[in-house]
Amino acid sequence: MSTSNTILITGGAGFIGSHLVRLMVNKYPDYKIVNLDALTYAGNLENLKDIEDKPNYTFVKADITDADAMQELFAVHQFDGLIHLAAESHVDRSISNPMSFIETNIVGTVVLLNAARSHWGDFSGKRFYHVSTDEVYGTLGETGFFTEDTAYDPRSPYSASKASSDHLVRAYYHTYGLPVVISNCSNNYGPYQFPEKLLPLMINNIRHEKPLPVYGDGKYTRDWLWVEDHAEAIDLIYHKGVNGETYNIGGNNEWKNIDLVHQLCDVMDELLGRAAGSSRELITFVKDRPGHDRRYAIDASKLQNELGWGPKIQAEEGLRKTASWYLENTGWLERVTSGAYQEYYEKQYTED
Ligand SMILES: NC(=O)c1ccc[n+]([C@@H]2O[C@H](COP(=O)([O-])OP(=O)(O)OC[C@H]3O[C@@H](n4cnc5c(N)ncnc54)[C@H](O)[C@@H]3O)[C@@H](O)[C@H]2O)c1
Repeated sequence: MSTSNTILITGGAGFIGSHLVRLMVNKYPDYKIVNLDALTYAGNLENLKDIEDKPNYTFVKADITDADAMQELFAVHQFDGLIHLAAESHVDRSISNPMSFIETNIVGTVVLLNAARSHWGDFSGKRFYHVSTDEVYGTLGETGFFTEDTAYDPRSPYSASKASSDHLVRAYYHTYGLPVVISNCSNNYGPYQFPEKLLPLMINNIRHEKPLPVYGDGKYTRDWLWVEDHAEAIDLIYHKGVNGETYNIGGNNEWKNIDLVHQLCDVMDELLGRAAGSSRELITFVKDRPGHDRRYAIDASKLQNELGWGPKIQAEEGLRKTASWYLENTGWLERVTSGAYQEYYEKQYTED
């Protein structure tokens, strides 16, 4: 595709989105990067403090389910491309409140597809990139990997909503010729992740010497990817991917939850100067999550072979970097858990 220069990134104040926005704002000074985010509990502009004054960066607070606002935004900015990450992303919340997942992840995606379709003329040089998850593929046994050809088999309201949006994105490619790409990625970890997710939750609890809740028998297996490796993969696929194609992204880095938590406990004991083994004593096994998928594992060889991407950071190094970041940014942790970052937004972006 041709080099696009005005790019809409949705969900750019979230965990992965903020890493992607930072990467693109710094790497492409000639692009215009527009970050659109509704700033739900998971969105935090503090994540982007270091780049918020850059001339090639604009933030817009809006909801992707607001069709009029999205049509207007496309009319004003004349986007060349869109990288769509805005979503409700937490599986446990999808079990207690599925409807918000349907609204944002499915309806919101269709609103954006419609805005792109109606503003992008003959579509030449345009790109609609949908960022998705490996959870759409369902669950694996002890062996095997998800490939791009694995049949969809989502089990949670979250993964079902992401699977629906993937199907709709593909439908706009086949039905209207909209130039789309999709990537399906495994579990991300690293700085700025909201502390409801496994690693920051455990780090926060270890800090406060609170119990470490591990679901079921702890033998659920996930592939883990350093978030900046994911952001680099998205940048590469956005520029070099082929329209209509799907790319799996993974770290080739499988861990059983309990082994990952053990490893984290040991790193935290070391960083906090606590006696070896003391954090492991905080582990408590709790009632399993309903419909919990046993194992996810990604075959990312298509991305590696066709576009030359591979993860740069492996888990041992990434875990240490993650734990250190949270310990050095306890103020961030306190603020996102107290909601004080909303005040930051008001101060920064509301005119008198
Ligand atoms: N975190 C992972 O491990 C992972 C793995 C694979 C794929 N993904 C996908 O990557 C994307 C980003 O995930 P994340 O972990 O950064 O999520 P996140 O929850 O940290 O961030 C989501 C962002 O979307 C925003 N948002 C939510 N609803 C919105 C709406 N209606 N309008 C506008 N903005 C809205 C939130 O304010 C937040 O900033 C999601 O689409 C997710 O499905 C995540």
